[in-house]
Amino acid sequence: MSSLKDIICKKIKNGLKGEIIIPPDKSISHRSLIFGSQTGGKIKISNFSFGADCRATLEIIKALGCEVNFIDKRTLILNSPKEFCAPSKALDCGNSGTSMRLLAGMLAAQNFKSMLIGDESLSKRPMKRVIEPLSLMGAKIKSNNFKAPLEIEGINLNPIEYFSPIASAQVKSCILLAGLNTNGITTVYEKTLSRDHSERMFKYLEAQIETGQDKNGFYTKIQKSKLAPKDIEIAGDISSAAFFMVMAAIVPDSKIIIKNVGLNPTRTGILDVFDKMNVNYKILDKKIISNEEVGDIKVSYSPNMIGCEISGEIIPRLIDELPIIAVLASCAEGETTVKDAQDLRNKESDRISALSEGLKKIGVEIEEKQDGFIINGNKKELIGGCEVETHLDHRLAMSYFVAGLVCKNDVKIKDFNWINTSFPEFLNLFNKISP
Ligand code: S3P
Repeated sequence: MSSLKDIICKKIKNGLKGEIIIPPDKSISHRSLIFGSQTGGKIKISNFSFGADCRATLEIIKALGCEVNFIDKRTLILNSPKEFCAPSKALDCGNSGTSMRLLAGMLAAQNFKSMLIGDESLSKRPMKRVIEPLSLMGAKIKSNNFKAPLEIEGINLNPIEYFSPIASAQVKSCILLAGLNTNGITTVYEKTLSRDHSERMFKYLEAQIETGQDKNGFYTKIQKSKLAPKDIEIAGDISSAAFFMVMAAIVPDSKIIIKNVGLNPTRTGILDVFDKMNVNYKILDKKIISNEEVGDIKVSYSPNMIGCEISGEIIPRLIDELPIIAVLASCAEGETTVKDAQDLRNKESDRISALSEGLKKIGVEIEEKQDGFIINGNKKELIGGCEVETHLDHRLAMSYFVAGLVCKNDVKIKDFNWINTSFPEFLNLFNKISP
């Protein structure tokens, strides 16, 4: 990121009003390139996310021999070769864990060497979770004590049956991408279902894949297959929409419509939390695009919000929304408890500790726990009047911005530009609906 800048967030005087179109889903955008690059044909990808994370994946597939031409800002034509070429330099995933973990699976099954590197935050994040299953498939990967850089020597892999110890879509997708290029049936089991964008896209591109549930949990089986070169349209990102959904719920007199939001049930945990907390919202105009559900979400100011418990199977369905849900809980009446979310410590920052530190400064009663946190909402006005650190984490930056809108005193957010990793349009969209 070139220029990191601090911003001051002020209490908003009037409600938010109007309509916005939420930018494309980051998870699906990464997958459209990674899966599309293996079709050996020409496809059109519409509504592509141009945040820094997805651009990292884009540069990597270009380094592997794909041609990418933008028709406009959000539409591109991807022309993929019959076979990838060996990259001539290290492949830089920037801040993006999805790029590194998914590409590790794809590259482990190619017949060349490659090296995946990342920025300061990504180089601290755990990669054992993908190195371990790939090594069981016979992959040769050198790392810095199970962290990036990853040096991958591509090889013919063996299929495995793997019981994932964590509900992680990145781990599942990594193994499935390795399995796609491996003879035999590769199976991944999860106890709790993580986001299933990969399974949906593999099905859409006609891979030999089967999903289901048995006594061992949720399974996905994949076999070596040729992917069909079909155009892909990307849904809007519910994780980006979440910041605006919470804004409308906590700023008095707000009413907004967020258009084209991805409503894949493995991502809509936040809506279940809205139901429990009495947030006023409605889903309008549901439809399916490229095997993913989308719809519009109308949210209005919710003066009767109450705290709730968030734990168990719902966690992977809202893992990225927990920082902004913490802000929502701070404005509700009573206690909100988040449990079973220890993997939040392995995201772009240790989100449990960083969030507790930041929200405490803002005046929230928050208690840090090993696997989550407890917030005592008490419906009191947040005090603000402080400076908070972003910890190289886009979602913390945007969560503090939303909290700042309802604080009595200004909140200074340091290095706010980290939002560019996922949501460069954030402030423009905010200006569209702010009075
Ligand atoms: C992602 C999966 C989640 C999520 C991340 C994107 C994906 O991570 O937190 O932002 O695109 O597969 P885990 O699968 O590691 O939980």
